[in-house]
Amino acid sequence: MKIVIVNGSPRTNGATARILHALESCLLDRKDVSVEFIDLSKQDIKPCIGCMSCYKTGRCHIKDNSERLSELIASADGLIMGSPTYASNVSGQLKTFIDRGHFVMEQLLYKKHGISVATGVNYGSGDANKVISKLMRYSGAYLTGSIVCNTPFGSDPCNEKMLARISKLSGKLYRDIKAEKSYPVQKLVHSVVFSCGIKPFVKKNASDYAGTVNKWREAKIKI
Ligand SMILES: Cc1cc2nc3c(=O)[nH]c(=O)nc-3n(C[C@H](O)[C@H](O)[C@H](O)COP(=O)(O)O)c2cc1C
Repeated sequence: MKIVIVNGSPRTNGATARILHALESCLLDRKDVSVEFIDLSKQDIKPCIGCMSCYKTGRCHIKDNSERLSELIASADGLIMGSPTYASNVSGQLKTFIDRGHFVMEQLLYKKHGISVATGVNYGSGDANKVISKLMRYSGAYLTGSIVCNTPFGSDPCNEKMLARISKLSGKLYRDIKAEKSYPVQKLVHSVVFSCGIKPFVKKNASDYAGTVNKWREAKIKI
């Protein structure tokens, strides 16, 4: 079982990273799990320039680390994505990767399982979490659960209660992936979004979205 963890915080030992590393260490207690931990702030990922060519070709032409990360996520069974709250949203580093990463149109997370994590100090961490959890569900994943944590800036959020939550949630992710668990309500919402929104739009503009359709075929998504 392969899990990718993406840390959207520029602080590689901050609150978000501590929660993500605690999830990582719980998962690594299982012999059949491997984890790839990505600090986005250490990656070369340039902003999307809006040329739309990735939809046509299935690849972004900008030469940096973004394609490699998308491929890594596409080859994984599960994704854990975390961010600090910046102005009631995710960090710029994470948003830049979301824009570049072929998530929603290409259904990068189809039938994978995920956990979203957002940390903050007071207001807006729920909004930041919503950005990540929606991204996961609209990209085809089942959301196993979320951690939304408000903690004073610079503090360690991993107290006893948080560690118990982390242990429980990592176990649930492991079991969900093993059992290929589906969540009926999430499945229904995704099916409406995909079948009534994304699919007809792409079919209507087929020549501009040939790369996207190829990705669906590769992921065995019904077209
Ligand atoms: C530019 C900036 C904007 C922030 N905006 C918010 C915010 O809107 N709401 C909030 O609760 N915390 C906000 N914070 C606090 C961080 O989200 C919070 O301290 C977070 O846990 C930091 O995570 P990290 O240690 O992983 O970097 C902001 C911090 C920064 C640097």
